[in-house]
Amino acid sequence: MSEWTSFPEIVSAKGMWLYDSKGGKMLDGVASMWCNVWGHSKSELVSEIIKQTKILQHTPLFNLTHPSAEKLSKKLLQLNPKMKSVFFSDNGSTAMEIAIKIALQYWRNVGENKKTNVATLENGYHGDTFGAMSVGYVPEFFSKFRSKLFSTIQFPVPRTVIIGSNTKKSSKEYAEYCLSKIEDKLEKDNSIAAFVMESGAQMAGGVIIYPKNFQKRISQICKKNDVLFVLDEIATGFGRLGSMIEYQSQNSTPDIVSFGKMLTGGYQTFAATLTTKKINDSFLGEFSQFKHLFHGHTYTGNPTAAALSLKNLELYKKYHLIEKIQKTSKIFKDRLDDISNLDLVGEIRHQGMVMGIELVQNKNSNKPLSSNISINKLVFEEGRKHQIYFRTLGNIIMLVPPLDISQKDLNFLIDGTISTIKSLSRKL
Ligand SMILES: Cc1ncc(COP(=O)(O)O)c(C=O)c1O
Repeated sequence: MSEWTSFPEIVSAKGMWLYDSKGGKMLDGVASMWCNVWGHSKSELVSEIIKQTKILQHTPLFNLTHPSAEKLSKKLLQLNPKMKSVFFSDNGSTAMEIAIKIALQYWRNVGENKKTNVATLENGYHGDTFGAMSVGYVPEFFSKFRSKLFSTIQFPVPRTVIIGSNTKKSSKEYAEYCLSKIEDKLEKDNSIAAFVMESGAQMAGGVIIYPKNFQKRISQICKKNDVLFVLDEIATGFGRLGSMIEYQSQNSTPDIVSFGKMLTGGYQTFAATLTTKKINDSFLGEFSQFKHLFHGHTYTGNPTAAALSLKNLELYKKYHLIEKIQKTSKIFKDRLDDISNLDLVGEIRHQGMVMGIELVQNKNSNKPLSSNISINKLVFEEGRKHQIYFRTLGNIIMLVPPLDISQKDLNFLIDGTISTIKSLSRKL
């Protein structure tokens, strides 16, 4: 941490731009940690916060309910017609903790005590709390806590792999191998309670986009083997990959699914975990049966965040945002060669409104770029000179703009990325 001596102080933001206390500005290439939908200071959302805050700031969902939580639940269930119930929480990590607890408790509630294990994909990320770290184990992030995490059964994820000395397998070719491993294990091992994975792509794992039908096949394998299928749409739901509900476009059916980040448009912290009727009903019973879920957060279902989320979801429809994203995201594709021709650039992965650009030492070896200060800091500082806010993940530059970015601003982001990579080449 000592390599950072100071940080730009952001004092205001409007549209795609962040303004600092020294008069500088940067385009928000990170969508403020992948959650911003409309850009900053969107008037309809700001007004909704003010409107709701004047009426009811907070009452919990303990013994009570309120109109914003009720309306938002209805809206979420409309968008997810195979789901029956909604559990609100404060952030993505808690939404995943809840998903994991519900999945594990479900089997106790229905009298099945053997199913206690969780299966996951390698390289996944579901948040920084202990349950989420266990399920989404990324060694670089979590190795210091390894002995305190619960163990999971991990399967490889389809990505470009080098086998033997030089044979390259594409993500699509490797997918069959990954699926066969999953199928074999789930057929043999009846201790597996749930299979937990990100929906559509692994974002924090470096924009690993699943090949077609990969998610659908896992969903089918889970159904066939009586394993709950738990999806994490926190980073990919609500349009990041180009679909409103990502699992629907993947033709897969979860038993439990979590949303967060873009749910409020990126203005407040909020998340939701949805379950099917089968799961929901297993938690019903007499008080003495103790089938209910002992889980609640102080700010569960906060009225301002709920009203804001509802308004945000209404705006998707009003402004045809998903259709717009599908058009805007073509720019990423059109500009792919401009980026991949650069010296330091290895594999590029792109879908919808996200692009991951691997920085490498050498295009042929594909060895990750390294330096004695963090790549994140280097890219951040160079990017700032070109008025772009970057946050890399290891050696991967993540382009994750607010979804409603204009074509002009997206081209500005890509031009700034190219200039940043070029100046990095000169510097290293
Ligand atoms: C897929 C996924 N799940 C869960 C989380 C955790 O969300 P939060 O940071 O809101 O706790 C993240 C955060 O990046 C994520 O990308």
